[in-house]
Amino acid sequence: MASDKTFYLTTPIYYVNDAPHIGHAYTTVAGDVLTRWHRQKGESVWFLTGTDEHGEKVMNTAAQNNVSPQEWCDKLVEEAWKPNWRDLNIANDDFIRTTEPRHQERVQKFLQGLKDKGFIYQGKYEGPYCIGCEEFKLPGDLDEGKCKVHGRPVEMLSEENWFFKLSAFVPQLIERYKSHPEACEPTSARNEVLAFLESKEGVSDLSISRSTFDWGIPVPWDTDQVIYVWFDALLNYATAVGLGDAPDSEGGKKFAQTWPADVHLVGKDILRFHAVIWPAMLMAAELPVPGKVFAHGWLLVGGEKMSKSKLTGIAPSDITSHFGVDAFRYYFLRAIPFGSDGSFSWEDMSARYTSELANDFGNLASRLIAMIEKYCDGKIPAVATDAGLSGLLTETVAKADAAICALDFQGGITAIMDFCKRANGYVTEKEPWAIAKDPARNQELFDVLYNTAECVRALAVLLHPIMPATTETLWAALGAQATLGSIALQKVADIATWGTLPADSVVTKGAVLFPRLEEKQ
Ligand code: MSP
Repeated sequence: MASDKTFYLTTPIYYVNDAPHIGHAYTTVAGDVLTRWHRQKGESVWFLTGTDEHGEKVMNTAAQNNVSPQEWCDKLVEEAWKPNWRDLNIANDDFIRTTEPRHQERVQKFLQGLKDKGFIYQGKYEGPYCIGCEEFKLPGDLDEGKCKVHGRPVEMLSEENWFFKLSAFVPQLIERYKSHPEACEPTSARNEVLAFLESKEGVSDLSISRSTFDWGIPVPWDTDQVIYVWFDALLNYATAVGLGDAPDSEGGKKFAQTWPADVHLVGKDILRFHAVIWPAMLMAAELPVPGKVFAHGWLLVGGEKMSKSKLTGIAPSDITSHFGVDAFRYYFLRAIPFGSDGSFSWEDMSARYTSELANDFGNLASRLIAMIEKYCDGKIPAVATDAGLSGLLTETVAKADAAICALDFQGGITAIMDFCKRANGYVTEKEPWAIAKDPARNQELFDVLYNTAECVRALAVLLHPIMPATTETLWAALGAQATLGSIALQKVADIATWGTLPADSVVTKGAVLFPRLEEKQ
């Protein structure tokens, strides 16, 4: 990566036919954690999320609610989606809506460019279409005429449409994934994409317009047709950073600095759109393809993909109102290997909250602050070193950094929490409360407390991208805000520097970081 290239990460843009559920939040929180981590590495970062507002699904939902599609989208975006991301402490740099002029104009220009290059032609689409997926289906995608994903009957379309020569890019796509295995992860996702690209039926050209409704971006040269919602939506990743703008304009400069995206985070249900159609569109336009498409697994309820349409959707607030926002952000990344499916269970979340967050992390912090108040007049004692802890911290930071940058959130968090366990073990073994009984052992007491404080300081910074609010509270309680400045400015490369927390930092007993859970009603 060129040193001035911005680390650019995207989430899918979400359909606004309904309010967000925890499946959507899973993707966006993962993106937020990864981008916060990269910011703490001192990199320039751009984090994009947004909403997918065109297509039949959104149009039909608006009609059912007796409002125009635009009114429906405005309402959902302002009253549900944006507040949801604010509540979850998501630090996105931009939020794109596909109904914005900046997007629509650039999409039209892009499509015109592909037509001018000869990649768009007129044809007839006849076949099944699932409105839930907004996808032209293959016979193998159906089960007794129903979409396998939504379990609902598909529509049979017969339309004169515009087509994109997708099939022309198959050899280039195969070559890309064979020579750049990191371009599609995890391995199971790359294998699936390669099998699809190499399948006997082959990849056919793609209908990229619809003529039977009008909620979409008009095809610039044939305004009776609107652009197929996925062709429109995928382009958001590039339109949001200035696709097609003159090189010396603001948009052009932004594009040069951010494109190609480093990571597109997606759920495995929308892998093909991102790993086949999207790079082919870019190849046709002679633009660089994204560095990585990472397909994570599904949150399951009752063994099935959790979804609003199956009435299994859980709102993030159902969980955050009980466990708090930071425990929510922590839990899913900690409990489920990123790339695999995982079931949400209230019991498992309660168990981890209590053992890992309240007992291991919260208690370590509160015991430390209570002892510094009691034995050191509330001031961090003079710098001391414990070679064992310091060595383990160096290893932990390296492990966590490598894992998180490789999107192995579970591995990264496990390494951090193992260090937390070791710090607890250190306190238990050293028994500072026993040492404190003997004034002759004061120095020993101060050393133990300083070493513990350093562990807590490091844990706060390591966990900051995952639990920003709680670690900020802890940072202030440690007195580090006053002596070291904002926690978000602490660099990953400096975490393992033992002795960072200055002596005489004044601790204050703050609020309990992870309060005891109330009985669930
Ligand atoms: N609008 C398209 C994406 C266009 S991107 C150019 C779309 N939207 S969606 O709202 O239906 O879903 C978006 C994403 O939400 C999924 O890919 C996935 O990342 C996430 N999830 C939705 N349900 C989920 C689960 N049950 N579990 C995990 N993630 C899920 O598809």
